[in-house]
Amino acid sequence: MLPFADALARALAFASPARGWLVPLLGCAEEDAPRLYAAADGVRAAHQGTDVQLRGLIEFSNVCRKNCAYCGLRVANRGADRYRLTPEEIVATARRAEQLGYKTVVLQSGEDRWFTAERMAAIIRAIKAATDLAITLSAGERDRRTYARWREAGADRYLLRIETTDPALFAALHPDGDLAARQQCLYDLRDLGYQLGTGVMVGLPGQTPDTLAGDVIWMHELGAEMIGVGPFIPHPDTPLCDAAGGTVEQTLRLVAVLRLVFPYAHLPATTAMGSLHPLGRERALQAGANVVMPNVTPGAVRPKYAIYPGKICLTDDAEHCRGCITGRIHAIGRTVATDHGHVKRVTTITDTNNKE
Ligand code: 5AD
Ligand code: SF4
Ligand code: FES
Repeated sequence: MLPFADALARALAFASPARGWLVPLLGCAEEDAPRLYAAADGVRAAHQGTDVQLRGLIEFSNVCRKNCAYCGLRVANRGADRYRLTPEEIVATARRAEQLGYKTVVLQSGEDRWFTAERMAAIIRAIKAATDLAITLSAGERDRRTYARWREAGADRYLLRIETTDPALFAALHPDGDLAARQQCLYDLRDLGYQLGTGVMVGLPGQTPDTLAGDVIWMHELGAEMIGVGPFIPHPDTPLCDAAGGTVEQTLRLVAVLRLVFPYAHLPATTAMGSLHPLGRERALQAGANVVMPNVTPGAVRPKYAIYPGKICLTDDAEHCRGCITGRIHAIGRTVATDHGHVKRVTTITDTNNKE
């Protein structure tokens, strides 16, 4: 195990991620953390500039067939008040997001099979016909043919967090899930040409810096292009109600390490960070992050997308959040991006040759 300073030097030399230097950074002492954050902030500035990408988040259904142990929307939580926006409402919300200046919408839901391959494809086509928006989907695990249909319909990106790559921890958290199957979904999405997003939660029970190092290595092998990480926040109506949960500091260390390993990736300052601390998102933006995903979900259903308690923006409307986040970005000396913020793919001469 390398001392902190040596580990940071290895990271700044853009060495391939290895446990020997990832672990001392992910588990660094409080007095070392500011140096890690500053290094990541420098790499962010060099590779992304001052622009922060905004993605308008539409939580279109909180219906879910799964039983993830950490999540308030799990099917066993009978207390969750379920809703589903109609296709027309989803398209109207996307148009509203475009009017507010967003260039991307993220369509997020639980694993709700009412949205069949064809229904969802029709929604994607309708949004593409009515707007100039980039579309990111975040609707869980589906089969490859469904992902292919959605891609053909015009979806640009897909987010599917792996949550953890530790097999025992994954199994304990997902009574109805399978790590290999979830990994296969990500391989399929990558093969289909989606801009590929994944991520993990921080502070899961039994998770250590070593576990997170394994996650970083796997996401690097996968070729992740967008990586969302947030603290685990225990929900009272779930089996993990008494767990300790993650902290802002633990999560910032991971955000910073991800920026060092993935200079070109899109890294969001997540809502969960803002929910744990009033300046949580700003702190992430100053430790490597370059994306924020303000909520544009219609006000009536917003409080119902309760994956964890204490979620911010529940009583605010889309216009308010747009203004709020712009002010926060400017307050830390950053700018709001005006382009679509597509993932940058670096094609080398060798890659081109290999394709022929
Ligand atoms: N705390 C923090 N994040 C959570 N998620 C689900 N439940 C929780 C929780 N209790 C995250 C998962 C999921 C994303 C949409 O929300 O990582 O992929
Ligand atoms: Fe469903 Fe996603 Fe919550 Fe799991 S994390 S229960 S798949 S909404
Ligand atoms: Fe929603 Fe600040 S981003 S109130």
